Amino acid sequence: MSVQSAIKRKTAPDILARKGGDPIVMLTSYHAHTAMLVDKYCDIILVGDSLGNVMHGFETTVPVTLDMMILQGHAVIRGSKQALVVVDMPFGSYEASKEQAFHSAVRIMKETLCGAVKMEGGARMAETIEFLTTRGIPVMGHIGLTPQSINTLGSFKAQGRSESDWAPIENDARAVDQAGAFSMVVEAVAEPLGKRITEIVKAPTIGIGASAACDGQVLVLEDMLGLSPWAPKFVKRYGNLGPGIEAAIQDYAKEVRSRAFPGPEHVYGMKKS
Ligand code: KIV
Repeated sequence: MSVQSAIKRKTAPDILARKGGDPIVMLTSYHAHTAMLVDKYCDIILVGDSLGNVMHGFETTVPVTLDMMILQGHAVIRGSKQALVVVDMPFGSYEASKEQAFHSAVRIMKETLCGAVKMEGGARMAETIEFLTTRGIPVMGHIGLTPQSINTLGSFKAQGRSESDWAPIENDARAVDQAGAFSMVVEAVAEPLGKRITEIVKAPTIGIGASAACDGQVLVLEDMLGLSPWAPKFVKRYGNLGPGIEAAIQDYAKEVRSRAFPGPEHVYGMKKS
């Protein structure tokens, strides 16, 4: 007998249908407790490979593995109910061939139960995107600045600052769109180019340091919460959690050192925070 859950999650086709409509709200999350909070307000939760920077302290996303993505993807699924969960394909898990991408994406989808995967790259990934989407795997594209290519790019700088640089990025957007991606992240491109890409593709664009004209926005949760020690310049901080957490840890350390902390009668059992 099949079990149907009472609350239906958003799907890739639901997101595709939002083109030109209400802006799509997307944030990253890598674990169950933040997923629970993000899920209340977001259409999409991205289990981004930025977890390499945020959770593991790597300088780039290059060292992130498929196993890391699967572990955190599953945690986010357990913590959320209604948002579409998209899991990033990490560097080295999809670029070699469309077959390699298919096998990696199938592992991600079977082992996390997420609703879609995301992969970086424009025209060079079009054949792979088509291969996956025609075999039941919804793909979110990622064009503009593609952080996994840091070693060939040399730096994390905005793309398409001058109009003469637009053509290859527009070409990437068209290729990903025609290959069947249900949406695409557009990262760190000049504002007018973000607007232009949004106009020329049928898939919703989700900007990060792109343009308010995109069909939605994504940010790294810890960056917008003010928890990351540093964040890209374009990120607006909606919280200042870093100093708040540090102050709480300082209070705790002070209490423990002065033996002022509560005894076991106060700490057994659970209370809702
Ligand atoms: O890994 C990530 O968090 C991302 C976003 C920055 C779009 O890819």
